[in-house]
Amino acid sequence: MTESKPARLVVLISGTGRNLQALIDAQAMGQLGAQIVHVVSNRPKVPGLDRAAAAGIPTSVVDHQDYPSREAFDTALAEVVEACHPDVIALAGFMRILTPGFIRRFAGRLLNIHPSLLPKYRGLHTHRRALEAGDREHGASIHFVTEELDGGPVVLQGRIHIGSTDTPDTLARRVMEEIELQIYPAAVRWMADGRLQLCDGRALMDGDPLDQPLSWPHDALQEGLAP
Ligand code: GRF
Repeated sequence: MTESKPARLVVLISGTGRNLQALIDAQAMGQLGAQIVHVVSNRPKVPGLDRAAAAGIPTSVVDHQDYPSREAFDTALAEVVEACHPDVIALAGFMRILTPGFIRRFAGRLLNIHPSLLPKYRGLHTHRRALEAGDREHGASIHFVTEELDGGPVVLQGRIHIGSTDTPDTLARRVMEEIELQIYPAAVRWMADGRLQLCDGRALMDGDPLDQPLSWPHDALQEGLAP
């Protein structure tokens, strides 16, 4: 019997790379179901590139400042990504808005992590906005990337309670440590195993439409993907 090859994962980053590190660590523990074949950054010399190099993962920089337009940058980025033959592409703190052409080219393979309970707070400053709104809960979401910014079908969410002493900084740290670093490896695992799919604009899990996002840790626990 031939063993099936792990899914090929490309990770796009712009900075610190803590989410990338969580994926690297999950792979090292044999829990990712995927092999990170390449890391691409749109910014040179960011810590995330060092993390990839330390793990022996090939890296590329496609610096958006080298291109005259968003389309030209995305064309160059798409060529690098395509050459890796990815099954899954994970945006992990990738801070560029992708063009519709790029998104269509890789439709159904693109995941993003966003630090809010989508559909709340698309875009930036999510922690401050959750506090200003007086929310009791906050969290992070993994979603398929579609042409609508932070608007694609949400597949997995984790939530925390907002405490009376939380500030934007403490919330950012808590959402990162308690939620983001946990949920991305689980979502990639489900993609790598072919269980999560994007079909006609809807997220499917094991072939069934997700009426609501999977929840962390509840749904991951049932799969042995949460501690
Ligand atoms: C994360 O909060 C991610 O959700 C957001 O940008 C941050 C990136 O952090 N889009 P890192 O690069 O993974 O450390």
